[in-house]
Amino acid sequence: MANNSLESVLNIVRPEVRREKAYHVGVPKNIEVKLNQNENPFPLPDALQKRFTEILGDLSVNRYPAEFPDKLIATIADVESFDPDGIIVGHGSNELSHFIALCFLGTETNVVLPRPMFALYKSVVRLFGAGLTEVPCKEDLSFDVGRLIDAIQRVKPALTVIASPNNPTGLVVGLSDIRRIVDASEGIVVLDEAYIEFVPEASAQMLLNEHPNLILLRTMSKAFGMAGLRIGYLVGHPSLVFEMKKARLPFMIGKHDELCAIELLKSSDLISQWILEMRNQTDWMWNRVDEIDGVKAYPTRANFFLFETQRDPAQLADSLGAMKIAVRKMSSYPELATMLRVCAGTRNENQRFVDALKRCI
Ligand SMILES: Cc1ncc(COP(=O)(O)O)c(C=O)c1O
Repeated sequence: MANNSLESVLNIVRPEVRREKAYHVGVPKNIEVKLNQNENPFPLPDALQKRFTEILGDLSVNRYPAEFPDKLIATIADVESFDPDGIIVGHGSNELSHFIALCFLGTETNVVLPRPMFALYKSVVRLFGAGLTEVPCKEDLSFDVGRLIDAIQRVKPALTVIASPNNPTGLVVGLSDIRRIVDASEGIVVLDEAYIEFVPEASAQMLLNEHPNLILLRTMSKAFGMAGLRIGYLVGHPSLVFEMKKARLPFMIGKHDELCAIELLKSSDLISQWILEMRNQTDWMWNRVDEIDGVKAYPTRANFFLFETQRDPAQLADSLGAMKIAVRKMSSYPELATMLRVCAGTRNENQRFVDALKRCI
Protein backbone atom coordinates (compact mmCIF):
# COMPACT_ATOMS: atom_id res chain seq x y z
CA MET A 1 0.00 0.00 0.00
CA ALA A 2 1.21 3.52 -0.74
CA ASN A 3 2.41 5.53 2.22
CA ASN A 4 -0.01 8.42 2.29
CA SER A 5 -0.02 8.99 6.04
CA LEU A 6 -0.68 12.57 7.10
CA GLU A 7 3.01 13.09 7.86
CA SER A 8 4.18 11.93 4.45
CA VAL A 9 1.46 14.01 2.77
CA LEU A 10 2.63 17.09 4.67
CA ASN A 11 6.18 16.32 3.56
CA ILE A 12 5.07 16.78 -0.06
CA VAL A 13 4.54 20.48 0.64
CA ARG A 14 7.63 22.30 -0.69
CA PRO A 15 9.98 23.10 2.22
CA GLU A 16 9.96 26.78 1.18
CA VAL A 17 6.20 26.79 1.78
CA ARG A 18 6.28 24.74 4.99
CA ARG A 19 8.82 27.02 6.59
CA GLU A 20 6.60 30.11 6.09
CA LYS A 21 4.07 31.51 8.52
CA ALA A 22 0.67 32.36 7.01
CA TYR A 23 0.14 36.12 6.58
CA HIS A 24 -1.84 37.30 9.55
CA VAL A 25 -2.72 40.93 10.34
CA GLY A 26 -4.03 40.11 13.83
CA VAL A 27 -6.86 42.61 14.35
CA PRO A 28 -8.23 42.54 17.93
CA LYS A 29 -11.94 41.67 18.26
CA ASN A 30 -14.79 44.24 18.39
CA ILE A 31 -12.76 47.09 16.91
CA GLU A 32 -14.67 50.33 16.31
CA VAL A 33 -11.76 52.52 15.12
CA LYS A 34 -9.71 50.62 12.55
CA LEU A 35 -6.41 52.39 11.91
CA ASN A 36 -4.14 49.41 11.23
CA GLN A 37 -4.27 48.71 7.48
CA ASN A 38 -3.72 52.10 5.80
CA GLU A 39 -7.16 51.95 4.22
CA ASN A 40 -9.33 54.78 2.94
CA PRO A 41 -11.75 55.26 5.88
CA PHE A 42 -14.58 56.81 3.84
CA PRO A 43 -17.54 54.73 2.67
CA LEU A 44 -18.73 55.11 -0.92
CA PRO A 45 -21.28 57.87 -1.55
CA ASP A 46 -24.79 56.36 -1.74
CA ALA A 47 -25.12 56.90 -5.52
CA LEU A 48 -21.91 54.99 -6.23
CA GLN A 49 -22.80 52.20 -3.79
CA LYS A 50 -26.13 51.88 -5.61
CA ARG A 51 -24.35 51.81 -8.98
CA PHE A 52 -22.10 48.96 -7.72
CA THR A 53 -25.23 47.00 -6.74
CA GLU A 54 -26.84 47.64 -10.13
CA ILE A 55 -23.69 46.44 -11.87
CA LEU A 56 -23.99 43.12 -10.03
CA GLY A 57 -27.70 42.93 -10.87
CA ASP A 58 -26.95 43.25 -14.61
CA LEU A 59 -24.19 40.60 -14.78
CA SER A 60 -24.38 37.15 -16.34
CA VAL A 61 -22.34 35.49 -13.65
CA ASN A 62 -22.59 32.12 -15.38
CA ARG A 63 -20.32 33.43 -18.17
CA TYR A 64 -16.58 33.91 -17.89
CA PRO A 65 -15.11 37.40 -17.96
CA ALA A 66 -12.63 38.33 -20.72
CA GLU A 67 -9.26 36.54 -20.32
CA PHE A 68 -7.72 39.89 -19.41
CA PRO A 69 -9.79 42.82 -18.11
CA ASP A 70 -9.37 44.92 -21.25
CA LYS A 71 -12.01 47.51 -20.38
CA LEU A 72 -10.39 48.26 -17.05
CA ILE A 73 -6.94 48.32 -18.66
CA ALA A 74 -8.20 50.87 -21.20
CA THR A 75 -9.66 53.02 -18.40
CA ILE A 76 -6.47 52.91 -16.32
CA ALA A 77 -4.42 53.76 -19.42
CA ASP A 78 -6.69 56.70 -20.13
CA VAL A 79 -6.98 58.07 -16.58
CA GLU A 80 -3.32 57.56 -15.63
CA SER A 81 -1.74 58.18 -19.08
CA PHE A 82 -0.07 54.79 -19.48
CA ASP A 83 0.32 52.69 -22.61
CA PRO A 84 -2.44 50.02 -22.31
CA ASP A 85 -0.05 47.40 -23.74
CA GLY A 86 2.18 47.94 -20.71
CA ILE A 87 -0.51 47.17 -18.10
CA ILE A 88 -1.38 43.93 -16.31
CA VAL A 89 -4.26 44.02 -13.83
CA GLY A 90 -4.20 41.74 -10.80
CA HIS A 91 -6.32 40.66 -7.88
CA GLY A 92 -4.70 43.29 -5.66
CA SER A 93 -1.03 44.19 -5.89
CA ASN A 94 -0.18 41.41 -3.42
CA GLU A 95 -1.25 38.89 -6.02
CA LEU A 96 0.89 40.68 -8.61
CA SER A 97 3.98 40.43 -6.41
CA HIS A 98 3.64 36.61 -6.60
CA PHE A 99 3.15 36.90 -10.34
CA ILE A 100 6.26 39.08 -10.69
CA ALA A 101 8.21 36.45 -8.76
CA LEU A 102 6.82 33.75 -11.06
CA CYS A 103 8.16 35.70 -14.05
CA PHE A 104 11.64 36.53 -12.73
CA LEU A 105 12.63 34.34 -9.78
CA GLY A 106 13.98 30.85 -9.34
CA THR A 107 16.45 29.16 -7.02
CA GLU A 108 19.39 30.45 -9.08
CA THR A 109 18.38 34.10 -8.87
CA ASN A 110 19.02 36.85 -6.33
CA VAL A 111 16.79 39.58 -4.96
CA VAL A 112 17.83 42.82 -3.25
CA LEU A 113 15.37 44.38 -0.79
CA PRO A 114 15.92 47.47 1.35
CA ARG A 115 14.88 47.37 5.01
CA PRO A 116 12.41 48.00 6.52
CA MET A 117 9.85 47.43 3.77
CA PHE A 118 6.42 45.86 3.28
CA ALA A 119 7.02 42.36 4.67
CA LEU A 120 5.22 40.43 1.96
CA TYR A 121 8.14 40.80 -0.46
CA LYS A 122 10.52 38.92 1.79
CA SER A 123 8.06 36.07 2.09
CA VAL A 124 7.59 35.93 -1.70
CA VAL A 125 11.37 35.69 -2.19
CA ARG A 126 11.57 32.83 0.32
CA LEU A 127 8.62 31.02 -1.29
CA PHE A 128 10.34 31.08 -4.68
CA GLY A 129 13.63 29.89 -3.16
CA ALA A 130 15.61 32.90 -4.47
CA GLY A 131 18.69 34.30 -2.69
CA LEU A 132 17.90 37.36 -0.57
CA THR A 133 20.18 40.32 0.16
CA GLU A 134 18.68 42.87 2.53
CA VAL A 135 20.12 46.37 2.83
CA PRO A 136 19.69 48.18 6.18
CA CYS A 137 18.20 51.68 6.30
CA LYS A 138 19.87 54.89 7.46
CA GLU A 139 19.34 56.23 10.96
CA ASP A 140 16.35 58.32 9.84
CA LEU A 141 14.74 55.09 8.50
CA SER A 142 15.18 56.17 4.86
CA PHE A 143 16.60 53.66 2.37
CA ASP A 144 20.39 53.75 2.05
CA VAL A 145 20.55 54.21 -1.71
CA GLY A 146 24.37 54.10 -1.86
CA ARG A 147 24.44 50.71 -0.11
CA LEU A 148 21.53 49.48 -2.21
CA ILE A 149 23.46 50.26 -5.38
CA ASP A 150 26.57 48.55 -3.96
CA ALA A 151 24.47 45.45 -3.23
CA ILE A 152 22.91 45.52 -6.71
CA GLN A 153 26.36 45.73 -8.32
CA ARG A 154 27.68 42.95 -6.08
CA VAL A 155 24.91 40.30 -6.26
CA LYS A 156 23.47 41.20 -9.70
CA PRO A 157 19.86 40.56 -8.64
CA ALA A 158 17.18 39.48 -11.10
CA LEU A 159 14.85 41.64 -9.02
CA THR A 160 15.10 44.65 -6.72
CA VAL A 161 11.96 45.98 -5.05
CA ILE A 162 11.59 49.51 -3.69
CA ALA A 163 8.43 50.94 -2.14
CA SER A 164 7.88 54.70 -2.38
CA PRO A 165 6.16 55.98 -0.31
CA ASN A 166 7.40 53.08 1.73
CA ASN A 167 5.23 51.07 4.10
CA PRO A 168 5.77 51.03 7.12
CA THR A 169 7.83 54.26 7.24
CA GLY A 170 5.80 56.53 4.91
CA LEU A 171 9.05 57.88 3.40
CA VAL A 172 9.57 58.68 -0.27
CA VAL A 173 12.57 57.78 -2.42
CA GLY A 174 13.52 60.78 -4.59
CA LEU A 175 13.24 60.44 -8.35
CA SER A 176 16.96 60.97 -8.88
CA ASP A 177 17.65 58.08 -6.47
CA ILE A 178 15.15 55.85 -8.27
CA ARG A 179 16.91 56.71 -11.52
CA ARG A 180 20.31 55.83 -10.00
CA ILE A 181 18.97 52.47 -8.78
CA VAL A 182 17.37 51.59 -12.11
CA ASP A 183 20.49 52.73 -14.03
CA ALA A 184 22.70 50.55 -11.83
CA SER A 185 20.49 47.45 -12.30
CA GLU A 186 20.79 44.85 -15.01
CA GLY A 187 17.81 43.13 -13.42
CA ILE A 188 14.20 44.22 -12.97
CA VAL A 189 13.41 47.02 -10.52
CA VAL A 190 9.86 46.96 -9.17
CA LEU A 191 8.76 50.26 -7.69
CA ASP A 192 5.77 49.71 -5.44
CA GLU A 193 3.72 52.94 -5.60
CA ALA A 194 0.81 51.75 -3.43
CA TYR A 195 0.57 55.19 -1.75
CA ILE A 196 1.70 57.39 -4.66
CA GLU A 197 -1.65 59.23 -4.87
CA PHE A 198 -0.68 61.01 -1.63
CA VAL A 199 2.49 62.37 -3.24
CA PRO A 200 1.92 62.19 -7.02
CA GLU A 201 4.97 64.32 -7.88
CA ALA A 202 7.17 61.48 -6.57
CA SER A 203 5.94 58.95 -9.15
CA ALA A 204 8.57 57.40 -11.41
CA GLN A 205 6.06 57.17 -14.25
CA MET A 206 8.25 59.46 -16.40
CA LEU A 207 11.15 56.99 -16.14
CA LEU A 208 9.20 54.13 -17.72
CA ASN A 209 9.94 55.05 -21.34
CA GLU A 210 13.71 55.14 -20.97
CA HIS A 211 14.02 52.14 -18.64
CA PRO A 212 12.69 48.79 -19.89
CA ASN A 213 13.80 47.16 -16.60
CA LEU A 214 11.45 49.34 -14.48
CA ILE A 215 8.01 48.08 -13.40
CA LEU A 216 5.57 50.22 -11.42
CA LEU A 217 3.14 48.50 -9.08
CA ARG A 218 -0.08 50.29 -8.15
CA THR A 219 -3.18 49.43 -6.14
CA MET A 220 -6.76 50.61 -5.80
CA SER A 221 -6.80 49.47 -2.14
CA LYS A 222 -5.51 52.67 -0.56
CA ALA A 223 -6.42 56.15 -1.88
CA PHE A 224 -9.09 54.65 -4.17
CA GLY A 225 -10.89 52.96 -1.27
CA MET A 226 -11.36 49.57 -2.95
CA ALA A 227 -9.37 47.26 -0.64
CA GLY A 228 -12.38 44.97 -0.39
CA LEU A 229 -12.68 44.47 -4.15
CA ARG A 230 -8.98 43.59 -4.74
CA ILE A 231 -7.68 45.45 -7.79
CA GLY A 232 -4.02 46.27 -8.43
CA TYR A 233 -1.99 46.71 -11.58
CA LEU A 234 1.55 46.79 -12.84
CA VAL A 235 2.97 48.91 -15.64
CA GLY A 236 6.10 48.07 -17.58
CA HIS A 237 7.59 48.23 -21.05
CA PRO A 238 5.02 46.75 -23.49
CA SER A 239 7.55 44.21 -24.84
CA LEU A 240 8.40 43.01 -21.33
CA VAL A 241 4.70 42.90 -20.40
CA PHE A 242 4.00 40.92 -23.60
CA GLU A 243 6.39 38.22 -22.32
CA MET A 244 5.02 38.36 -18.76
CA LYS A 245 1.45 37.85 -19.98
CA LYS A 246 2.47 34.34 -21.07
CA ALA A 247 2.67 33.40 -17.36
CA ARG A 248 -0.57 35.12 -16.47
CA LEU A 249 -3.60 33.11 -15.37
CA PRO A 250 -6.66 34.06 -17.42
CA PHE A 251 -9.96 35.28 -15.88
CA MET A 252 -8.15 36.59 -12.80
CA ILE A 253 -10.47 39.55 -12.17
CA GLY A 254 -14.19 39.07 -11.62
CA LYS A 255 -16.54 41.01 -13.90
CA HIS A 256 -18.03 42.90 -10.97
CA ASP A 257 -14.65 44.04 -9.63
CA GLU A 258 -13.63 45.20 -13.10
CA LEU A 259 -16.77 47.24 -13.73
CA CYS A 260 -16.80 48.77 -10.23
CA ALA A 261 -13.14 49.79 -10.60
CA ILE A 262 -14.01 51.51 -13.90
CA GLU A 263 -16.87 53.42 -12.24
CA LEU A 264 -14.59 54.52 -9.44
CA LEU A 265 -11.74 55.60 -11.72
CA LYS A 266 -14.21 57.78 -13.60
CA SER A 267 -15.18 59.54 -10.33
CA SER A 268 -12.13 61.79 -10.37
CA ASP A 269 -13.66 64.57 -8.21
CA LEU A 270 -14.56 62.11 -5.47
CA ILE A 271 -11.06 60.61 -5.51
CA SER A 272 -9.39 64.04 -5.34
CA GLN A 273 -11.62 64.98 -2.36
CA TRP A 274 -10.79 61.72 -0.59
CA ILE A 275 -7.06 62.18 -1.10
CA LEU A 276 -7.16 65.77 0.15
CA GLU A 277 -9.15 64.75 3.21
CA MET A 278 -6.88 61.79 4.00
CA ARG A 279 -3.83 64.06 3.74
CA ASN A 280 -5.46 66.68 5.99
CA GLN A 281 -6.46 64.03 8.52
CA THR A 282 -2.95 62.55 8.52
CA ASP A 283 -1.44 66.01 9.17
CA TRP A 284 -4.01 66.76 11.87
CA MET A 285 -3.40 63.49 13.67
CA TRP A 286 0.39 63.63 13.25
CA ASN A 287 0.51 67.06 14.93
CA ARG A 288 -1.77 65.98 17.82
CA VAL A 289 0.27 62.83 18.43
CA ASP A 290 3.66 64.53 18.17
CA GLU A 291 2.70 67.22 20.68
CA ILE A 292 1.85 64.66 23.41
CA ASP A 293 4.63 64.68 26.03
CA GLY A 294 6.86 61.63 25.66
CA VAL A 295 5.54 60.73 22.19
CA LYS A 296 7.48 61.07 18.94
CA ALA A 297 5.74 60.90 15.56
CA TYR A 298 7.95 60.08 12.56
CA PRO A 299 7.70 62.13 9.34
CA THR A 300 5.56 60.65 6.56
CA ARG A 301 4.31 61.37 3.04
CA ALA A 302 1.55 58.74 3.09
CA ASN A 303 -1.76 58.30 4.97
CA PHE A 304 -0.08 56.64 7.99
CA PHE A 305 2.90 57.22 10.25
CA LEU A 306 5.09 55.57 12.85
CA PHE A 307 5.13 56.78 16.44
CA GLU A 308 7.08 55.91 19.55
CA THR A 309 6.31 56.31 23.26
CA GLN A 310 8.00 55.33 26.52
CA ARG A 311 5.59 52.40 26.83
CA ASP A 312 6.13 48.89 25.53
CA PRO A 313 4.53 49.08 22.04
CA ALA A 314 2.82 45.67 22.19
CA GLN A 315 1.22 46.54 25.55
CA LEU A 316 0.21 49.95 24.27
CA ALA A 317 -1.40 48.41 21.15
CA ASP A 318 -3.27 45.99 23.43
CA SER A 319 -4.46 48.84 25.67
CA LEU A 320 -5.73 50.72 22.59
CA GLY A 321 -7.30 47.47 21.38
CA ALA A 322 -9.15 47.17 24.69
CA MET A 323 -10.53 50.67 23.92
CA LYS A 324 -11.68 49.27 20.54
CA ILE A 325 -8.95 51.03 18.52
CA ALA A 326 -6.68 49.04 16.18
CA VAL A 327 -3.13 50.20 15.35
CA ARG A 328 -0.36 48.10 13.82
CA LYS A 329 2.39 46.44 15.81
CA MET A 330 5.84 46.63 14.25
CA SER A 331 7.46 43.74 16.13
CA SER A 332 8.34 41.93 12.88
CA TYR A 333 10.68 44.81 11.93
CA PRO A 334 13.67 44.81 14.35
CA GLU A 335 14.60 48.43 13.52
CA LEU A 336 11.05 49.56 14.39
CA ALA A 337 10.65 47.43 17.53
CA THR A 338 9.91 50.45 19.75
CA MET A 339 7.24 51.86 17.41
CA LEU A 340 3.64 51.45 16.32
CA ARG A 341 2.03 52.44 13.03
CA VAL A 342 -1.30 54.22 12.73
CA CYS A 343 -3.21 55.42 9.67
CA ALA A 344 -5.57 58.35 9.39
CA GLY A 345 -9.26 57.59 9.75
CA THR A 346 -12.18 60.01 9.79
CA ARG A 347 -11.87 63.07 12.04
CA ASN A 348 -14.00 61.39 14.76
CA GLU A 349 -11.90 58.23 14.63
CA ASN A 350 -8.69 60.22 14.80
CA GLN A 351 -9.97 62.22 17.76
CA ARG A 352 -10.85 58.97 19.55
CA PHE A 353 -7.38 57.62 18.85
CA VAL A 354 -5.62 60.78 20.10
CA ASP A 355 -7.76 60.87 23.28
CA ALA A 356 -7.15 57.18 23.93
CA LEU A 357 -3.42 57.55 23.35
CA LYS A 358 -3.25 60.43 25.85
CA ARG A 359 -5.03 58.26 28.42
CA CYS A 360 -2.61 55.37 27.83
CA ILE A 361 0.57 57.45 28.13
C1 LIG B 1 3.54 48.93 0.04
C2 LIG B 1 2.35 48.06 -0.18
N1 LIG B 1 2.26 47.36 -1.31
C3 LIG B 1 1.21 46.56 -1.56
C4 LIG B 1 0.19 46.42 -0.64
C5 LIG B 1 -0.94 45.47 -0.94
O1 LIG B 1 -1.96 46.07 -1.61
P1 LIG B 1 -3.16 45.27 -2.27
O2 LIG B 1 -4.34 45.50 -1.41
O3 LIG B 1 -3.30 45.88 -3.64
O4 LIG B 1 -2.81 43.82 -2.37
C6 LIG B 1 0.24 47.11 0.56
C7 LIG B 1 -0.82 46.93 1.58
O5 LIG B 1 -0.73 47.29 2.71
C8 LIG B 1 1.34 47.96 0.79
O6 LIG B 1 1.45 48.65 1.94
